[in-house]
Amino acid sequence: KRVAVFISGSGSNMVRLAEAAQADDFPAKIVAVIADKPDAKGLDKARAHGIPAYALARKDHDSKSAHEQAMLDVLADVRPDFICLAGFMRLLSADFIRAYEGRIINIHPSLLPLFPGLNTHQRAIDAGMRIAGCTVHFVTEGMDEGPIIGQAAVPVQPGDDAAALAARILTVEHRLYPAALRRLAAGDVRMENGQAVFAENA
Ligand code: GRF
Repeated sequence: KRVAVFISGSGSNMVRLAEAAQADDFPAKIVAVIADKPDAKGLDKARAHGIPAYALARKDHDSKSAHEQAMLDVLADVRPDFICLAGFMRLLSADFIRAYEGRIINIHPSLLPLFPGLNTHQRAIDAGMRIAGCTVHFVTEGMDEGPIIGQAAVPVQPGDDAAALAARILTVEHRLYPAALRRLAAGDVRMENGQAVFAENA
């Protein structure tokens, strides 16, 4: 299967997906990385892995739909089966999502449905959570509310600040996302009628 990864920043999750996809038995190949920020550090990391990387800056387009059309034009060439959002800090329109219905996934740094949106680590600490974590989910029109594919949890330690918790969660993100993409590309999970459906023996 062909996978495009969308990033906005460091791209550490994208790197882990690219590394996992190098395994012979991995059912997907990362065929493109698209960043909405031209200075995204992940662009050079993608190129270092031999992956075509496209900087499609939002500011180069006079509207959200023109920017999305630029991304769709690249995707028309790249022909991905799936799109992985990895540290991608932009909401995609309903039209864009419909064009790739059930084929876009995202990693969010909280145990959804808790803490959708931003500043998830500080909010978990402020709420007194004793565990926190991350979620890989199908992308639907609402923000961070699509059907869940997988989750990973870590303890919140006394004295944690947001940075310490973020770092602890990032280590499990880097294991969860490749595992989730493997299952998606292998057909062990798919989205049907807005629900995640798992193959019985997966
Ligand atoms: C990660 O916490 C991820 O969960 C969130 O963006 C952060 C940075 O990701 N979506 P990356 O290092 O750019 O992959």
